Amino acid sequence: MKAKNCLIFGGSGQIGKNLIRKLTKNGYKCTVVTRNIHQKSLKIKTQGNAGYIDIVESNIFDEKKIRKLFEEVDICINLIGILYETKKGNTFDNIHAKFPSIISNLSKEYKLDQFIHLSALGINSSPDSFYAKSKLEGEKNIMRNFSLSTILRPSIVYSVDDNFTTNFMTLLSRLPIFPLYYSGKTKFMPIHCSDLTDVIYHVISKKFQSMTIECVGPETITLKEILEKL
Ligand SMILES: NC(=O)c1ccc[n+]([C@@H]2O[C@H](COP(=O)([O-])OP(=O)(O)OC[C@H]3O[C@@H](n4cnc5c(N)ncnc54)[C@H](OP(=O)(O)O)[C@@H]3O)[C@@H](O)[C@H]2O)c1
Repeated sequence: MKAKNCLIFGGSGQIGKNLIRKLTKNGYKCTVVTRNIHQKSLKIKTQGNAGYIDIVESNIFDEKKIRKLFEEVDICINLIGILYETKKGNTFDNIHAKFPSIISNLSKEYKLDQFIHLSALGINSSPDSFYAKSKLEGEKNIMRNFSLSTILRPSIVYSVDDNFTTNFMTLLSRLPIFPLYYSGKTKFMPIHCSDLTDVIYHVISKKFQSMTIECVGPETITLKEILEKL
């Protein structure tokens, strides 16, 4: 049987690396799009055996180049997300709402088997957050464009070298005091990265469609408790 090919955006990140490892181990091929092949190819290539991973360097808004990639694949997975806005068009609206809209449209046009998108937990109860609003807008665009899409909403994702833990540990080791927004009472249900990639793999291997899945770990913990643990 021909190996299925997954087109992955954001594959060089924390979740992406783990997911590529899981997919290639199980016989899936991955085409991974990155903005900088020189910086990211080692990270990406070392997640699978030779022949299983192709890397393409592209601006994610270069629609002509991106469009060509959809001709060859069966599944598209979007793992691109930002926590803050920077210059050069890296706005929440562009990254979380417009880009998912473009690739979900292409997934429909090219009749892909699945489009899988990573959103975030709790976004519908955070009306003041620009991050949450843009993620919600992205979800709406996706379901309007390609109703067979599957949306995953993870809580904080942790692993040995995740950005959340390492950034907090650096700040905690440097600062004499630490601000606790909302008195540190905000609750999280952290999920380990390999558990999340198991969920994504399950969605792919069982061919789930048209679903929104909340992905959480077994423990509910406040920000203050997380910081105390760190
Ligand atoms: N990690 C968490 O705790 C968590 C929790 C909830 C939801 N999520 C969501 O899950 C998804 C994956 O998370 P992650 O932690 O694996 O992400 P990540 O490591 O921060 O980033 C994933 C990749 O996205 C690409 N990217 C980042 N900013 C970009 C930009 N402005 N334009 C184009 N590409 C950009 C980068 O790839 P290149 O540099 O190779 O181009 C990066 O490696 C995101 O949508 C995130 O919002 C994550």
